[in-house]
Amino acid sequence: MATPLGDWLEQRLGLQAIWHAIFQRNVPKVNWLYTLGSATLFVAINQMITGILLTIYYIPSPDNAYESVMYITTQVPAGWLIRGLHHWGASAMVVLAVLHMLRVIFHGAYKFPREMTWFTGVLLGIIVIGFGFTGYLLPWDQKAYWATIIGTRIAEVTPIIGEWILRIMRGGEELTAVTLARFFSVHIWFLPAALTVLIIIHLYLVIRIGISAVPKQQE
Ligand code: HEM
Repeated sequence: MATPLGDWLEQRLGLQAIWHAIFQRNVPKVNWLYTLGSATLFVAINQMITGILLTIYYIPSPDNAYESVMYITTQVPAGWLIRGLHHWGASAMVVLAVLHMLRVIFHGAYKFPREMTWFTGVLLGIIVIGFGFTGYLLPWDQKAYWATIIGTRIAEVTPIIGEWILRIMRGGEELTAVTLARFFSVHIWFLPAALTVLIIIHLYLVIRIGISAVPKQQE
């Protein structure tokens, strides 16, 4: 940096090396399919920002959840937009993560030395599904209620531990206020924390190893 203040900061923080490693690293000549990971990341950031904004008005209790969502949609300035971005962003994130994974499969990019990038990706995929499942219940309307009855019943057919999983998910035998509180907590605390940590590891690996080149036929 040219200014004395810039030099002073650079000597102490060493940010240029980090900037260089992230934004000025060498990358192979790739194509548009390689933007799918970044597109997923973009939507993940959208989900975090709009999700945080939604919690300002959303109330996670059976008596208020539905009304609070309606209030956000019809009364809060730009509430419809924030909710819409979060709602459609959720579907977009699933679609983009799947397309990104397919790109990785078709290019064989999961192979050595990227096994750990793949593994953290698999965990990210599971987390994305978890977000969808827990978020679906939050509006607490008929669709949400019955979808979660079915979703938890599906988990119940797991051999041996199925009943136990159902009780953990519902917080008892039935779908109650405890279930809603539980899903809300997982949706806004557990999953975002796990997602953030895993994205950091995933991207660290992408930068450390470098992305794979487009596979070519042997001459
Ligand atoms: C929240 C979800 C995810 C985010 C934000 C994300 C982000 C990224 C980004 C930005 C890249 C580098 C650019 C690219 O290759 O597209 C990448 C690469 C990679 N991702 Fe993901 N990813 C996610 C999910 C997944 C999933 C579900 C898998 C597979 C199960 C996966 C496996 C990989 C692999 C193996 C690479 C290296 C590709 C290469 O070097 O060519 N990722 N990811």
